[in-house]
Amino acid sequence: MDKFLITGGQALEGRVVISGAKNAALPALTAALLTDERVILHNIPRVRDISTLRSLLEDLGVDTSVTHEVHGNRIEIEARQLLNPVAPYELVKQMRASVLVLGPLVARFGHARVSLPGGCAIGVRPVNLHLKGLEKLGASINFDHGYVDARASGLRGTDFYFDTISVTGTENLMMAAALADGVTTLENAAREPEVQDLAALLNKMGAQIEGAGTSQIRIRGVSRLHGTEHTVIPDRIEAGTFMVAAAITGGELALERCHSEHLTAVLSKLEEVGVRVVRETAAEANGGQTLSVKPANRLRALGLTTQEYPGFPTDMQAQYMTLMTQAEGSAVITETIFENRFMHALELARMGADITVTGRRAVVRGKTPLSGAKIQASDLRASASLVLAGLAAEGETLIDRVYHIDRGYERIEEKLTRVGARIARISESD
Ligand code: EPZ
Repeated sequence: MDKFLITGGQALEGRVVISGAKNAALPALTAALLTDERVILHNIPRVRDISTLRSLLEDLGVDTSVTHEVHGNRIEIEARQLLNPVAPYELVKQMRASVLVLGPLVARFGHARVSLPGGCAIGVRPVNLHLKGLEKLGASINFDHGYVDARASGLRGTDFYFDTISVTGTENLMMAAALADGVTTLENAAREPEVQDLAALLNKMGAQIEGAGTSQIRIRGVSRLHGTEHTVIPDRIEAGTFMVAAAITGGELALERCHSEHLTAVLSKLEEVGVRVVRETAAEANGGQTLSVKPANRLRALGLTTQEYPGFPTDMQAQYMTLMTQAEGSAVITETIFENRFMHALELARMGADITVTGRRAVVRGKTPLSGAKIQASDLRASASLVLAGLAAEGETLIDRVYHIDRGYERIEEKLTRVGARIARISESD
């Protein structure tokens, strides 16, 4: 159980290279299950969720190999055969995104047995829409002993409407439909950049997908897919997190390898609050763009409602809440995606923040000085918001259970130390 010890009050300064997107890399890895040929992926972040998924793929009998590159890892995947179609409870409970093997396994091998992901700190998070969509594509779905057992002797194109917009639901059905017989139309589909990146990868593998990025995606199924090479997009949530780190410490950071077009809602909100961001026009040699965050004169409180893309992402809500503790005035934050995503508010209150939570609404009154304390992370983005609070607080903050943050941020303490933060990882063995 590693901890972070942070001494706050340092204005951050320097350059941070943004890693590849965890939420683009995960579906890209499972997409490789759709072909017996080699798929090579670049810009894969070195985060724990990727290692968990690799273990799952190897459990299934898939060959994978990893090579360090200048930016992230290169992962080669070859799903020539399937030893067993089971995604076991032990792995799925560590990472619910393991459910992304369901669509590809049913589509290519006709059978998948996946442990049902249980509850999660931020919400119930059912997968009923994934299953309903697979059933519409012709799969038979049964449940036993905590597992969903999906079988099909060839999927058939269909029309499916998502009652609720679901990111991994859209990705799962898009992958399944890529090998189905006929045309599938997904309505009210998720429009996230990660969904678009997966469609780009699948089309490179020979799929026929149109409309990714809109709420209607059309997939004309093909009989087989082939290998390819693909570089996943930068992590817009990591970029947003570092923007808040600069703003909340009164510092100046240049974030390299970003895509500002993926961050429109985040940038517009931060700029409204008073954060100054300069977008470098020229695309960099190694891809992406640099976004430079300049010190803000003052931060003013502004309300926020999380929404599906292109709205303000729920994965930036916790970080924004921390920023609002240092803004002048009151901000009402409404979380519309997950029913229990304010766990960080209690920990921030322990540091002196003035926050009232009522159901899916939180009122943050600022500006309130934060003082260092012993606090505990509860989920990935909550832990990021606590690191930000520690950077802004007076004195020392000790954050427990930082394994949450390692799931989705690549060595965040090293990136922060390079730009002047005083943060150290304390391992139990220390
Ligand atoms: C993805 O989760 C992301 N994870 C999450 O990021 C992110 O918070 C979420 O999308 C929303 O943007 C990955 O991409 C791996 P959803 P996902 O299905 O796909 C309900 C992070 O911090 N729903 O879009 O699991 C659900 O309960 C993580 O990196 C159903 O009711 O989220 C929720 O209220 C956390 N039935 C809403 O839809 C279903 O079958 C949106 O969930 C599926 C979803």
